[in-house]
Amino acid sequence: LRWEVEIRADKDAVVFERGENEYRFGGLPPRVLHRLASLMNGERSPAELGEALGLAAHTVQSVLAKLFEHDLVVDLSAEPRSRIAADAFHAICGRLFPVWKTRLFSHPLWAALSSGSAPAPLFAGWLLESYHFIEGVNDRIPVAVAECADARIRHVFAQHYAEEYDHWLFFQRSLNALGLPNEQIQATRPLPSTLAVLQHMRHAARRDPLSYALCSGFLESTGADRARGVAFFERLKHHYAAQNPEIVTPMAAHLSLDEEYGHGDLLAEICGGLGPIPVERASAALDDAALLVETLEMWSTDIERTYSRYPVDARTRLHFYRAP
Ligand SMILES: [Fe+2]
Repeated sequence: LRWEVEIRADKDAVVFERGENEYRFGGLPPRVLHRLASLMNGERSPAELGEALGLAAHTVQSVLAKLFEHDLVVDLSAEPRSRIAADAFHAICGRLFPVWKTRLFSHPLWAALSSGSAPAPLFAGWLLESYHFIEGVNDRIPVAVAECADARIRHVFAQHYAEEYDHWLFFQRSLNALGLPNEQIQATRPLPSTLAVLQHMRHAARRDPLSYALCSGFLESTGADRARGVAFFERLKHHYAAQNPEIVTPMAAHLSLDEEYGHGDLLAEICGGLGPIPVERASAALDDAALLVETLEMWSTDIERTYSRYPVDARTRLHFYRAP
């Protein structure tokens, strides 16, 4: 099943979603069809799929034929490649990242911030965790530099670090405008889920510079993303900073600075100097990036839960985390 396809079982059909398009398939009981599609992870042959679910070979084949018709699956046996060209790999990332971004930013936290339905303490909590997340580049990029054996990529990471290490200042300015003095900001601890995002990226850096490059590339804004980022900050300004735009202006300035640095082109720069990539390596890097998206979703949920119940200053007292 293609990476970007999402499936869900309805009462009488299974819905396959790919980008804007939805395909409904019946014929088999939805529970069975959903399970069958869930097993299509590129590691099972059609025969193994049928065996796992007790389905006849011709049933599996007719389901596959329908899925092929709508380009929802890929036949890996038809492409016995051991390597993928770096530019083709970069193009795959270019197709997947916008899909993942849309998924992440439709999380209830981001939707509530964008619509203004998030209460002010939740906005403050999101801002504080964003500060810790951005400050956390000091925990992750140095690991990426230290672990990278490829001198060319290591230079790209080091350059990125030189440009990013003090960008927490933008978020500190926003928090100051919101009424939090520096001593209070520094006394707070990041949420465990904020640390989990950073830890995931450190782990990716240790696994493979390509994994780290994908995770980092996903986080950087490019093209249409950038316009969406600008619009998001405009809405935040309207909902949470009408009296004092300085609460949001530094974050918008940060977006512009990263754009000036060309951080959106980082992944292209890294892929540009790579030869053909073994498919296992490419898949593992995509796995790490996909897991980053899930970790960011978990992070968003944790921010929403925590700061719907506690104000930001509760974070200076750890026992307030996770009420009985
Ligand atoms: Fe930055």
